[in-house]
Amino acid sequence: MVNGIKAIRGMNDILPHESYFWSHFEMKMQQWLAAYGYRNIRTPIVEQTDLFIRSIGEVTDIVEKEMYTFVDHLNNDSLTLRPEGTASCVRAVIEHNLLYSGPQRLYYAGPMFRHERPQKGRYRQFHQVGVEALGFAGPDIDAELIIMCSRFWQSLGISGLRLEISTLGNAETRALYRTRLIKYFEQHREALDEDALRRMHSNPLRILDSKNPGMQAIIENAPKLIDDLDVESYDHFESLQGILREQGINFQINLRLVRGLDYYNRTVFEWVTDKLGAQSTVCAGGRYDGLIAQVGGKSAPACGFAMGVERLLALMQETGNPVKQPVPDIYVVHQGEQVANYAWKCAELLRDEGFDVVLHCGGGNFKAQMKKADASGASYAVIIGDEELKTEEVTLKPLREPVKQASVKLIDISEIIRKEHLKS
Ligand code: HAM
Repeated sequence: MVNGIKAIRGMNDILPHESYFWSHFEMKMQQWLAAYGYRNIRTPIVEQTDLFIRSIGEVTDIVEKEMYTFVDHLNNDSLTLRPEGTASCVRAVIEHNLLYSGPQRLYYAGPMFRHERPQKGRYRQFHQVGVEALGFAGPDIDAELIIMCSRFWQSLGISGLRLEISTLGNAETRALYRTRLIKYFEQHREALDEDALRRMHSNPLRILDSKNPGMQAIIENAPKLIDDLDVESYDHFESLQGILREQGINFQINLRLVRGLDYYNRTVFEWVTDKLGAQSTVCAGGRYDGLIAQVGGKSAPACGFAMGVERLLALMQETGNPVKQPVPDIYVVHQGEQVANYAWKCAELLRDEGFDVVLHCGGGNFKAQMKKADASGASYAVIIGDEELKTEEVTLKPLREPVKQASVKLIDISEIIRKEHLKS
């Protein structure tokens, strides 16, 4: 180890024996998003700190204590490593006037940063796939987002996820509800912990999300937002449920669903598992009709979600379809200086034929090289020695089947291998 330097706590290396699993996930993810007409947007990992304060909300865990914020000493700007992707996506959409050409279906994937206490399924650098539909007002797009998630779980072979949905109403509903909540919590001051007392006036809805067992009874009896819901939000929520039922998507209404970010209105939802311990939410999102205007754009409705890739991969390992580690098709074994030149050419020709080929490097006798070929997991060894150089043939040795090795012309290899595969 370099002078004892290690990776930062809560930030993980993804090693080759894990990264193939990530690649598999990413390939599935891209196919899935293309099938629904979502296009990729890539934004910088660092943004002006103000963007996140303005969008996620000043009195949230993320902004209050979890952001990696630093000063750019060249111009004294306050910058922050993105803790989530919605704010950046909205910023980019406004900056490039993307909504000018109509509503947008977008997605992004990449690392996010939150200074949380690391534990299984909770990291300081973690990865999200985020999907945002901007410029759509109706409940049909909320339903599309939820239905497409369900389809993705199927394609990954994940089962047993629970969908929870709720509605937060419009801005007036929430203002009204806020006042009622403050009044209620004022009456139960003695039962509130320090955190709740601090938030009572700035963000009382967050108190509902408290995990403090001593406060659960007070939270349970608190007024419910649904009682103040405006008619349009009620209809929106009803229509969404109608589409979900019609499309065979099971859900539970959880009126206590509180999201950790302040930009939501109307629909909110979470996909939850009971297989990952405390970090049970694998995907979450909702509608954020006010955010675009809040960040400085022309007012437009929007809705989206993000999934936690580490949590989904953990779940796939528990319940998903098995994924095979990739192995080369052919390992080229060779000996002698002149032979090496020929071996280089052979390897490239085989790659031209579409095979994944590892060319042995580092010398050694045939026996040692064959051990490496075997350990590589390759299906075949192509063996090249002085004899092969003379005859311009190679020896093809199947490594996984009880089939004898044979001298073959290089140009015949792909046909032979394809035939072998057809037989097996
Ligand atoms: P979020 O609920 O903060 O929402 O994060 C979405 C998902 O990211 C979580 O459900 C979880 O799976 C994963 N996640 C969050 N924090 C961590 C962590 N520390 N370690 C591992 N995984 C984590 C958002 O970020 C919103 N931007 C979602 C959204 C998009 N809403 C509308 N559009």
